[in-house]
Amino acid sequence: MSIISSILTQASFSSSDLVKLLGSEGDEMMLLFETSNKIKQNITGNKVYFRGLIEFTNFCIKDCLYCGIRKSNHSIQRYNLSDEQILDAVRFAEEENFASIVLQSGENTSSTFTERITHLITRIKDQSQGRMRITLSLGEQSESVYRQWHEAGAHRYLLRIETTNHTLYQKIHPKNSLHDFNHRLDCLYSLRSVGYQTGTGVMIGLPFQTIDDLANDLLFFQKFGIDMVGMGPYLEHSQTPLFKFRNELMTVQKRFELSLKMIAVLRILMNDINIAATTALQAIDPMGREKGIKAGANVIMPNITPGPHRKDYLLYESKPCPDEEAIQCKGCLDARIAMVDAIGGYGEWGDSKHFQNRTISE
Ligand code: 5AD
Ligand code: FES
Repeated sequence: MSIISSILTQASFSSSDLVKLLGSEGDEMMLLFETSNKIKQNITGNKVYFRGLIEFTNFCIKDCLYCGIRKSNHSIQRYNLSDEQILDAVRFAEEENFASIVLQSGENTSSTFTERITHLITRIKDQSQGRMRITLSLGEQSESVYRQWHEAGAHRYLLRIETTNHTLYQKIHPKNSLHDFNHRLDCLYSLRSVGYQTGTGVMIGLPFQTIDDLANDLLFFQKFGIDMVGMGPYLEHSQTPLFKFRNELMTVQKRFELSLKMIAVLRILMNDINIAATTALQAIDPMGREKGIKAGANVIMPNITPGPHRKDYLLYESKPCPDEEAIQCKGCLDARIAMVDAIGGYGEWGDSKHFQNRTISE
């Protein structure tokens, strides 16, 4: 029996086991994907849940060194959708029978912003008669703001830790209190204690990142007991400071493959969580999200941001179909996921089973 197949029979995994799994290639990598897919089918089923992604503003107070919408990037057009435009996008999600939406934006902690969000959550709930599940991806906020939004009706929150290696975290962020690793971690704990289904994630293939770092990221997700994960390849953006390290990166193809392996290993490590096949995968390979599903993911976030602004929310370059209207992107969704033996969980919330399991046992 090969080392990989023997590790795959284990019930628990050390950091060095994970490093070996992440290093698998060829037939062994295929075995890894088959194992993770089987676990997914058995535990979370063959449904893929949709979250309509609304990137409603690209204004951001932060300056992450990798991100295309960072405050210091003056070459992009800033926009802020009106409440009516956002509610229209929600209506579109309802028509498509997506039972869930994600409100995502650059970071903003002003009371004008936080109160606007509270109001929006209430309006989305009213408009959908409580049927629409709301996920927020609005960065670091105070615990009381998180609570206010939760009480208004948002039940899931995504806040990527980006990397769990503190030194690497510092290298990819400006060194100031707005970009503090421990604060970000505290936010994740706040989110969980407020009662959210809590999601996090990392970028894969960052400059200076090692396979050991990624194995530790996976162990962090497990130790924290995270409910949802969205992670994808790092893609360099020419208008960001990190671009200068582009020659030190692994190839885009390797980053892609490693991202699929991260999904697969995470599914093996945490059977009942929700894992997203992220847009960054699709930016590299037109079938990237479907390959993510095959590797163990069970969530897709179709972009339903109104067309004209999609091109302005470029966290990284080569983002798929920024010019297309949401409806055109949706057209072939069913056929594509059918190719990887999955079916759409239309009209279903698709809450994280891990969240359900942990809150029942609490
Ligand atoms: N490449 C890949 N992912 C990126 N993100 C931001 N910039 C990039 C990039 N250049 C991811 C971060 C962030 C999420 C919204 O997008 O992980 O948390
Ligand atoms: Fe906006 Fe990082 S640049 S949160």
